[in-house]
Amino acid sequence: MSAPTSRPLPGTGRTAVVTGASSGIGAATATRLAAEGFDVVLGARRMDRLTELAAAIGARALPLDVTDASSVDAFVAQLPRVDVLVNNAGGAFDAKPVADADLDSWARTFEVNVLGTVRLTKALLPALIASGAGDVLFVGSTAGLVSYEGGASYTAAKHGVHTLAETVRLELFDQPVRVIEIAPGMVRTEEFALNRTGDQEKADAVYRGVRAPLVAEDVADCIAWALTRPHHVNVDLLVVRPRAQAAQHKVHREG
Ligand SMILES: NC(=O)c1ccc[n+]([C@@H]2O[C@H](COP(=O)([O-])OP(=O)(O)OC[C@H]3O[C@@H](n4cnc5c(N)ncnc54)[C@H](OP(=O)(O)O)[C@@H]3O)[C@@H](O)[C@H]2O)c1
Repeated sequence: MSAPTSRPLPGTGRTAVVTGASSGIGAATATRLAAEGFDVVLGARRMDRLTELAAAIGARALPLDVTDASSVDAFVAQLPRVDVLVNNAGGAFDAKPVADADLDSWARTFEVNVLGTVRLTKALLPALIASGAGDVLFVGSTAGLVSYEGGASYTAAKHGVHTLAETVRLELFDQPVRVIEIAPGMVRTEEFALNRTGDQEKADAVYRGVRAPLVAEDVADCIAWALTRPHHVNVDLLVVRPRAQAAQHKVHREG
């Protein structure tokens, strides 16, 4: 057996699927991975955004609704080879305390973040194993590691994603597949806080006074770094926050 090397693993010759690639972290990740030489397949529901991005970066766009089993089947059927799965599709849809829990919102949050991620992972694991050097990467969140008031539908779902990543890593211990979790803190993307609050002013308030929240490209950079390490190096969990966010509740706001 040859000794492990510390040389980066180039993207060339590897196919990477990115879910939720029509905006934010997913779009930035797809763009970065294409620049690293990966053959990138973008999946999301909004095909107008997806086809425009795919054309710009030289990738392939396929419709995907991770909450719909038949959509996942049709997506997977069009992939002859997959080396990397970036499970990014997700989001938060309310900020209610448990006493006012909206069960429909909880179900929606779990459908996309947890069940959708399980669907894609289950469907693509055979291809990832067959690749001989596969990667399944979960975009988790610091909300999957700590709890905060008013966030339970999302924190519970992202804790689920964290556990899912840990479990899959144990289950695949003898397979040629790395299991990586990237857990970002505050990232200023166009739609995340808007989807959560339903109101642009409230969405803007999330980032108010924070000098430099992370941007999608910062997270894409971490994802690309983890995926391009030599394949014996498994970045189990990478927590990344803006400097102004020392902990979930400890955010420096100016002005
Ligand atoms: N922004 C943050 O502060 C932050 C922090 C930590 C972790 N995260 C996580 O990072 C990921 C991306 O967040 P973001 O900030 O980039 O949010 P975003 O801009 O709202 O992007 C979410 C993406 O998920 C896709 N999506 C939603 N429902 C889907 C479905 N049913 N099937 C397929 N795709 C679906 C959306 O595309 P379509 O609507 O076109 O389907 C969109 O491309 C999420 O998992 C989020 O929980 C975000």
